[in-house]
Formats: sequence, structure tokens, C-alpha cells
Amino acid sequence: MSAAEKKPVKIVETILRDAHQSLIATRMPTEVMLPILSKLDQVGYYALECWGGATFDTCLRFLHEDPWERLRKIREGCPNTKLQMLFRGQNILGYRPYADDVVEYFVQRSVANGIDIIRIFDCLNDLRNLQTAVSAANKEKCHAQVALSYTLGDAYTLEYWTNIAKRIEEMGADSICIKDMAGLLVPYESEKLITAMKEATKLPIEIHTHYTSGCASMTLMKCVEAGADIIDTAISPFAMGTSQPATEVMVQTFKGTPYDTGLDLELLAEIADYFREYRDECLKTGLLNPKNLGVDIKTLLYQVPGGMLSNLTSQLKDLHAEDKYYEVLKEVPNVRNDLGQCPLVTPSSQIVGSQAVMNVIQGERYKVATKETKDMLAGKYGATVMPFNEEVRKKVIGDVEPITCRPADLIPPELDQLNKEVEPYKKQEEDVLSYALFPQVSMDYFKYRDAQQTGIDANLFDMTNTAYPV
Ligand code: CO
Repeated sequence: MSAAEKKPVKIVETILRDAHQSLIATRMPTEVMLPILSKLDQVGYYALECWGGATFDTCLRFLHEDPWERLRKIREGCPNTKLQMLFRGQNILGYRPYADDVVEYFVQRSVANGIDIIRIFDCLNDLRNLQTAVSAANKEKCHAQVALSYTLGDAYTLEYWTNIAKRIEEMGADSICIKDMAGLLVPYESEKLITAMKEATKLPIEIHTHYTSGCASMTLMKCVEAGADIIDTAISPFAMGTSQPATEVMVQTFKGTPYDTGLDLELLAEIADYFREYRDECLKTGLLNPKNLGVDIKTLLYQVPGGMLSNLTSQLKDLHAEDKYYEVLKEVPNVRNDLGQCPLVTPSSQIVGSQAVMNVIQGERYKVATKETKDMLAGKYGATVMPFNEEVRKKVIGDVEPITCRPADLIPPELDQLNKEVEPYKKQEEDVLSYALFPQVSMDYFKYRDAQQTGIDANLFDMTNTAYPV
């Protein structure tokens, strides 16, 4: 590329979503965000990732906040910047598949409350699980981005990624994201991947990676050189470790090159100053564990996301079987292969992890199978890239005939029934959607909200003892 050919790389800032989800368990409250919104709005980011993922659940469950209200406040504070959310395909922001009417209504209300870009992914990369959300986003004239869960394995050849990119273009998406939740995308491989994908599709390509394995900023640089259009970064106090590369570093890296972002480093430094104070507070209270800030090379060695490693540790601790850690780590790829070599991301990472623990603890593989493993082998999560291990399937679900259709085709409309259930507590249209995703947690929150308004001691409704779903 000659110097005259300019191709400024676009930056998506993740401080309001993934950066704090990755480093402080999504606990940043709205009141920490509000004072800095006008500065964030002046930067000229391509977009601010600020909603979806685990933020919705955490708002209701731990922060006693209405996630919809948070979104409206961010929209008000950032009138000039596109707002982006993360959406788990047919699972929306929850942990089970929903009927199409709920998915469509959720997309509609998200856009009505301020979302401009919806990033939609599926843990199996089964595009059928994304179609309803993509079509709904198209209908709302919102940017529909399909995110591919990046993983490694025999099935995941360049041909696999380029073929699926073409299919995503055909299904009506506006852009593609490579979602590398584990930090497995290493610099030179990423260059090959992006070069091939740019040849296969005209859609803009965005890279979302995590610093867990220490490669992420080099990977982003190689991706941009290979033609990636957009990169995800986090302002420095909440960057690196299990989060994204630092925004300022990437801005400075591309300065004076054809990829120059044009963003103002001084303004970014002011934003960093603000969040550095909050970060220090998080370190003091223990919310930010310094362990999350270093390089964890095990993630490359075992090809599992950092979050999954810590889940396995705590599961084994509960079972008083910490000495089985490495045995379980060796079992993870075996289970993953039995289950069609699926990517490891919510919820497949939990399904594979728990089953691996079970197989090791029981001393016999699949002697006991979790409900989720059974559902997976019965096709209820969708199709995997490789076939299931037939022997394992027989042992776990016997003669049950697996479904081969799109799983949501078997779920009847649910919105009317949900509306009836939530009616007595409803203060806004969106309440039915909070309730659909997290019935018990939302009900507790609605009661807390009522109590606040009527002056009853709101502390009577303690929601912090509800177990957090991994
Ligand atoms: Co992420």
C-alpha cells in the first residue's frame, strides 16, 4: 500500500462493556460511567461497546440497576457516537434458547433505547441460531454484525472460515467480527486468516481479541496490515491481562501510517486519568485481582479461555479434587471432540468443562452426563462443525433421536405468557424482556424498585446471595 492510500483503522472502545466484564466481573456501575460520557463522545470512536454480554445480568443481580435505564443514560450522554451491544444469538443475553418473538422484541427495544450496532454470536457458529436476530436488526435498520467464535482444531481450516464468511454475507449481515475470546489468535496466523477472509467477502471485518496470552496487540497490528477494518481496544487502565489491548497504544502505533486512526491522544489521556482513579479503587477493594493483569500462557497450551480455567479450578475445589486439575485439563479436548469440536464460549465452555470434571471424578467417561451434555448430544443447541462421537451419544442419550432442525423451530411463541406473568410489576415495556431472561432475579429487582419508590427499606431485598451463573 502506498502512503497516499489512506485506510484509517476504526476503533471500538470496550471500557463500558468487555473491559470491565473481563477484569472486574462486570461490576462497573452506571454512576462511574456518567461523568466521563461527554469526553468519550468527543473522541471519534467508531463505536462504544457498552451493553449486552454479562452487563444485563449483573445490573439486575448485583448492582440493583435497571439495564434499560443504563442504556438510555449512555445514549443521552453520547449523542454522537454509535453504541454497540453483544447478543448471544437465540439465547439473547441469557443461557437458554428463546422463541423468535422474544428475540425480535428484544432487538426492537434495544434499538428503540439507543443501540446502533448489534454483535450477534453463537457458541457453535451455527448460523441458523443467528438468523432471527440478524433479520430483526435489519428490520430495525440497525447494523447487524455476526461474530464468529474463534477456535482451533482440524475442522477450522481457512476454508471453513472463508466459507462461513460468504454465508454470513448472504444472510444479510452488515459486517463480520472474529471473536477470539481466549486469545488464541496469534499474529502470523491472524494475518493468514484475515487475508483469506478479505478475499472471500466484501463485508468489513472487525477483530475482537483478549490479551490473556500476551499476543493481542501484535495480533491486532498484523490483522490491520492484512486488511481488517475495525479493532476493539480498551482505555489503558482497564486494558491488557484478560481484557483488550490498550486504545492509546494502538492509536500511537498507527500514527503517521496509512492506518492512522486520527484520534487525539491527549483526550484519551484525560479519559485514562479518570479511569485510573477507579481502577486504583478496584484494586483497593479487591474487585480487581492483579492476577488478571499478567500473561497466562496456559490458555495457549490448553486452548481454553482464561475464564474457563478459573471455573475448573473452583469446581474442583468444591469437590475437594484440586489434585485432578491437570487430568481434567487433558480431558477437556477429548470431551470437546466428542461434542463435535465446538468452540469454547458461553455456554459450550461450561458444558464441556463440567462434563470433563464429571468424567475424571467418576473414573469412567460419561458414566454420569450433565443435562446440558444430553441436550447438546440431542441437537438442542444446534449443529456442530464435526459429527458427535456416535459411541458417546449412544451411551448418553440411548435411542433418543437427535433433532436436526433449527432448535428454536420447536419453541412456541412465549411473549404473551411472559407479559401476563410480569403484568403486576411492570413499570415499562422492557420489563417483560428482563423477566424473560432472568425471571427470579428480575422479580427480586422489581420488588426492590417498588420498595424504593414506596419508602420501604429496600435493603430487605438482598439479592447478592444469588449464585452467579458462569
Ligand atoms: Co470479549
